[in-house]
Amino acid sequence: MRLKVSAGVLVSLCSFAGCGGADEPADHAAGHPHAGGEHHHPGHHGPGHHHDFSDVERFASIFDDPARDAWQRPAEVVARLELATGAVVADLGAGTGYFVPHLSAAVGASGRVLALDTEPAMVAHMERRLREAGLENAQARRVAPDDPGLAPGSVDRVLVVDTWHHLEDRVRYARQLAEALREGGFVLVVDFTEESPHGPPQSMRLSAETVRRELAEGGLAAEVVEAPLPYQFVVRGARR
Ligand SMILES: C[S@@+](CC[C@H](N)C(=O)[O-])C[C@H]1O[C@@H](n2cnc3c(N)ncnc32)[C@H](O)[C@@H]1O
Repeated sequence: MRLKVSAGVLVSLCSFAGCGGADEPADHAAGHPHAGGEHHHPGHHGPGHHHDFSDVERFASIFDDPARDAWQRPAEVVARLELATGAVVADLGAGTGYFVPHLSAAVGASGRVLALDTEPAMVAHMERRLREAGLENAQARRVAPDDPGLAPGSVDRVLVVDTWHHLEDRVRYARQLAEALREGGFVLVVDFTEESPHGPPQSMRLSAETVRRELAEGGLAAEVVEAPLPYQFVVRGARR
């Protein structure tokens, strides 16, 4: 596959999930060290999974590429959130806000969408986007890398798309999300499978089972969910 793809496709393969080295094909990065150690992959800064997401225009052309809908199937993803009118949903690592219009429509005027991201340029971009689209029930917020900044028992759902692998202490993070959930609430993690031609370098990928275990260790009732997504798995972690 990698022999035939154009440079543009290589850009999206790698940078879709924010591996940072925009012009490096995903497979080139396969051997890069990452787990808790130093990164030598372009665009990585120091330990952990920090990436430079400040070039919003470039990421917007990838994350909001209309061709993404065909495989991302946002309606399918949002359906698995089982959102009721009036629900409060957090989109953790919301990026350019690809999912926000879908979430906003699903929770309705009485609901709320909290679009959380660590990258100030992404947050500023989303603020503009939400204003221009008149999405009054949605709000973009900058968060710390190790804290979603959600009050205990304040949200019904947390959606985490292509972002879980960027978190450092994921079990601790899962515990924080568990505390933020209201009764009946759950977290949905969607991330690239190890087999997917899209996604971060192999060394950064997580299996569905690893994510399930991390959510469970964080105190959630976790299970892998069937979803018709060609490149991603879905794991659900419900408040106990
Ligand atoms: C690959 S993008 C996914 C964007 C969006 N979820 C989507 O599906 O289009 C990952 C996003 O997560 C953000 N991010 C990375 N680490 C984060 C953290 N610890 N907390 C919140 N957001 C984070 C990045 O700034 C980036 O915007």
